[in-house]
Amino acid sequence: MSRLFYRWCSSDRSRAQLVILILIVFILGLVFVSFWNERYILVSIPKHSSKLSAELAKNFSNTDIPEYVLTYAPLVFLDKGDLFYPSDLATHVSKAHPELNHTIIKDAPKHLTLDNLNSLNGVGGDKVHLTSTENLIKLPNYLKGEAPNKKTLQTGNAISCVIALANKADGILDAFYMYFYTFNEGPTALGHRVGNHLGDWEHNMVRFKNGEPQAVWYSQHEYGQAFTYKAVHKIGRRPVSFSARGSHANYASSGSHDLHELNDAVPAHIAFDQTSQGLIWDPTLSAYYYLYSSTDNNFTPAIEGTPVNYLYFEGNWGDEEYPDDAEGQENFHNFHKWTSGPQGPMFKHLDRKDVCWPREGECIIKTAL
Ligand SMILES: *[C@@H]1O[C@H](CO)[C@@H](O)[C@H](O)[C@H]1NC(C)=O
Ligand SMILES: *[C@@H]1O[C@H](CO)[C@@H](O)[C@H](O)[C@H]1NC(C)=O
Repeated sequence: MSRLFYRWCSSDRSRAQLVILILIVFILGLVFVSFWNERYILVSIPKHSSKLSAELAKNFSNTDIPEYVLTYAPLVFLDKGDLFYPSDLATHVSKAHPELNHTIIKDAPKHLTLDNLNSLNGVGGDKVHLTSTENLIKLPNYLKGEAPNKKTLQTGNAISCVIALANKADGILDAFYMYFYTFNEGPTALGHRVGNHLGDWEHNMVRFKNGEPQAVWYSQHEYGQAFTYKAVHKIGRRPVSFSARGSHANYASSGSHDLHELNDAVPAHIAFDQTSQGLIWDPTLSAYYYLYSSTDNNFTPAIEGTPVNYLYFEGNWGDEEYPDDAEGQENFHNFHKWTSGPQGPMFKHLDRKDVCWPREGECIIKTAL
């Protein structure tokens, strides 16, 4: 047998056939792996979590939060390999002090809280950076956030989501589900880590018309994608969002997402967002709820006692980008390992007209994944 095989292999034509065969098997393998990673496995919500959702709906029954905002709220699949979970807003703020141009602001409250954060607007406005008091490049423990519980789908006592509702003309209500992670671990590009930063705000937006979900927006860094409600994967009636490993960009499907498709400045096939069906997080169970008015840029808490001042903070939720010669900083073809933290929820275009984040070009609402 082996001799026959040897003889078959030793003719030139057969050798060519063998190479072609191996190539075909290899390509089929790649197609299969890609299919396997992108398949969607149906799951159901654990009983304990459903009970909490029912309790939540009851809690909000006498408020200005319509029940459909909870009924159709997205559920988030964290990536299996993600080490950095949704994080408590108050904890994040308490671990930081304000800086301007890498210099501590002396004229600022001693302890930052969700109630006094907006007082920093007077000492530097949008130039202020909440700066980690512990050395960030050593990745202190608080960056990890809080893993959702497998039974409740809740991030313990961590409040890691802001839900803000913007009423618009023609029976439209845009519900913004804004997710907060203390740490954004950037992707690696050719072995170099790029885009680490503190204070990671990402969001989904569900557009309702007369209480019916129409479309879902998935934020992906400064970009994103829109789909019809009908097109997206769901658990029951709730759309699902796949949060990318480390970067927490939101995708409508699992698998590998080339960052080149978001931003031409990133070369193709070099840096990716990875998503998968890891832990499920129900952000509605760990959230603060508000009504948003674009006419006066006002957030009104749905429940008395909910902190609100932090939403008016104009500064940035993480350290300012370190200079090239700073400890830990790396510059890889002008992509930096450590970049600046971004501004907060108020800057997510809650008054947008289209489902998409306003950018040049038209808003395409895809009808298929
Ligand atoms: C509902 O409200 C009660 C009383 O304020 C609170 O203890 C409970 O945690 C709330 N339930 C949920 C799921 O938020
Ligand atoms: C920031 O600080 C550096 C050095 O301390 C200084 O050279 C620079 O002019 C400052 N920039 C601003 C905008 O104040």
